Amino acid sequence: MITYLIDLGWVNLAYLVASVLFIIGMKGMTHPRTALRGNLISAWGMLLAVVAALLANGLSYQWILVGAVLGGAVGAITAVRVQMTQMPEMVALFNGFGGAASVLVAGAAFMTAAEPDLQMTIATGLSGLIGAVTFTGSLIAFLKLAEKMPSGSLGFPGIKAFNGLLILVALAGTAWLAVDPSSQMAYWLVVVVSCVLGVTLTIPIGGADMPVVIALLNSYSGLAAAATGFVLMNNVLIIAGSLVGASGIILTQIMCKAMNRSLGAVLFAEFGGAASGPSADDVYGGKVKSTSPAEVAMMLETAQRVLVVPGYGMAVAQAQHIVRDMANILEARGVLVEYGIHPVAGRMPGHMNILLAEADVPYEKLREMDDINNEIAQIDVCIVVGANDTVNPAARNDPHSPIAGMPIIDVDRARTVIVVKRSLSPGFAGIPNPLFAADNCLMMFGDGKKALTELVQALKEG
Ligand code: TAP
Repeated sequence: MITYLIDLGWVNLAYLVASVLFIIGMKGMTHPRTALRGNLISAWGMLLAVVAALLANGLSYQWILVGAVLGGAVGAITAVRVQMTQMPEMVALFNGFGGAASVLVAGAAFMTAAEPDLQMTIATGLSGLIGAVTFTGSLIAFLKLAEKMPSGSLGFPGIKAFNGLLILVALAGTAWLAVDPSSQMAYWLVVVVSCVLGVTLTIPIGGADMPVVIALLNSYSGLAAAATGFVLMNNVLIIAGSLVGASGIILTQIMCKAMNRSLGAVLFAEFGGAASGPSADDVYGGKVKSTSPAEVAMMLETAQRVLVVPGYGMAVAQAQHIVRDMANILEARGVLVEYGIHPVAGRMPGHMNILLAEADVPYEKLREMDDINNEIAQIDVCIVVGANDTVNPAARNDPHSPIAGMPIIDVDRARTVIVVKRSLSPGFAGIPNPLFAADNCLMMFGDGKKALTELVQALKEG
């Protein structure tokens, strides 16, 4: 029997207000201008929900305080220390911790319940299954994003059938739990099998398909929390979990569309099935032309329309501010400068938008991929700053390429393309880029920030 420290009506009212704050906060996050406020509103909602949950039950507060202080300190230190480029892997890791928390909370509530009913047993099984898949799947995503393991497709022949078997065993474990709620063994079976499943589901997915997995794991962490909400019969957890689950699914769909992939094709890609493309030597051999900041500055003197296409390298180099300085100089000369944004450029959804907003680039200057592709032939000079896969014409021209069919920004169709990167190294998908060998393409080799600083200097001197 739960003892309430404050009246249940007040607790539910606080949960209702918290849920409304989550929804208003999410609405704010749909636009960069209101995103910060949206985030803060949601954070206040979460604080209210946590305080209400703590006051609702007669709990032993000293351990909760220890956990909150320790967890808060780790969170605060990480938030302050993390580099912008490490953000995606940190988000992946936090998703995973959300899944693990669901596994532990649902399991503990189930094991201490006097008489678990059917709803509780099924919700516990699902929480264990989805939470454990989220935990280990997110750890793999973290390792791939942090480049601590190869980012491409890994696995072994027959991995699809093996995964199918694991799913069946995990579901059988949940059914066992429903039939015999006293069996803790059944719960741990579900958790252990699902931990393996999280790994084997995630390792075959790699390269350019990673954005879809990240969005999906995000959704799973919400679904696991919602299932735990049903175990605890906690309304705000059910609502918050469902919001994360639903928004994650919508994001997954957006990512699939951006990659021109079906969810099934990403999730059930056969290991080893991916075709290998031509080697870097075949693609580049003697065809790559390099240029210098002074030469590019001269080219820009006659340009009327310039498109900047940023990618992950701009985040690594932290070149967004110098990109803005360059645009300011060109705009002062009457040049139209815009930014072409690929939906999966960088390593997390909206990565480029965040960086450019940080550098005060007006939001109206950001053009979506489809939109700018229609006008790309009118661009005099396209400056690609640390983008690679998202501007790789092999996606359009080579049906055997691992990224075949993925929409790209068609920078190769601009009059002149300048690519700013340090070398001919591949991007996340690990494949060569025929753009770099194209007739209208010049490589400005160097760190993005350094090369563009030299370009800005040359523009000022010119
Ligand atoms: P990538 O294809 O990953 O290429 C980034 C390029 O930046 C590299 O080729 C690298 O070349 C260059 N670079 C690195 N450091 C640099 C520096 N300091 N200065 C200048 N250049 C630098 O980038 P992209 O076009 O943005 O594509 C994103 C890829 O990541 C896609 O394959 C996408 O599917 C995947 N992905 C995206 C997400 C999300 S949600 N956006 C999540 C996971 C994976 P050098 O080493 O030669 O400099």
